[in-house]
Amino acid sequence: MVELLPSVLSADFTHLADQIAAVERGGGTALHVDVMDGHFVPNLTFGPPVVASLRKATRLPLDCHLMIDNPNEFIAAFAEAGANWLSVHYEACPHLHRSLQMILHHGMKPGVVLNPATRVDLIVDILPMVHHVLVMSVNPGFAGQEFIPFSLEKIRRLAEIRQELGLAFKIEVDGGVAHDTVAPIVQAGADLLVAGSAVFGAGQPERDVRALLAAAREAADRIMASQAAGGKSKIH
Ligand code: DX5
Ligand code: ZN
Repeated sequence: MVELLPSVLSADFTHLADQIAAVERGGGTALHVDVMDGHFVPNLTFGPPVVASLRKATRLPLDCHLMIDNPNEFIAAFAEAGANWLSVHYEACPHLHRSLQMILHHGMKPGVVLNPATRVDLIVDILPMVHHVLVMSVNPGFAGQEFIPFSLEKIRRLAEIRQELGLAFKIEVDGGVAHDTVAPIVQAGADLLVAGSAVFGAGQPERDVRALLAAAREAADRIMASQAAGGKSKIH
């Protein structure tokens, strides 16, 4: 079942608890937390203290996306703050296998993130270790950017590899997920949809989570119906 993960980066920070409650009511199933260091990406956001506050405000899993150099140095701090899922960038981890082992060792679900220019095939060997693969569909650093169309091909390729290898990792998509892009993203094979501007931008997070989820599930139902009718599967 496709899920919607609101990205708190676009929330109104003066009313964070209310905003979280609203996206929970709308059907959000985890909160996406964008951690940026001003080096790996050209922006600064928040770190473990904000994650610890979020932990007190919700029971939803916290999906922390580390856009930082040397992520290994912060894995323990995020675990302590209450992160549930922790993803690191392929491009920031010369010893990716070790980073994923560390995340597992700290009791969190590990994810690996691919920038738009990074090929899916580079991570095939570590796929059995991950809970999710996060496909960046914008260059990371800022909310509100336009979805990069060739990301759809990467999602399809990952879904194909997952089937070929008999694995169960989730395919997460982050960047430019909105009402006009959600259907092709789901059709390509995504399971976890991260959305910032499309959830918080209009000041109606509960309504907009609901609407995005409805559009995503409608797209998923269409695929099921076409498969049942002997049509093409979503990964072709
Ligand atoms: C981008 C972040 C995203 C961002 C998405 O660097 O990783 O999670 O919040 O924002 P939208 O949905 O507005 O593209
Ligand atoms: Zn993100």
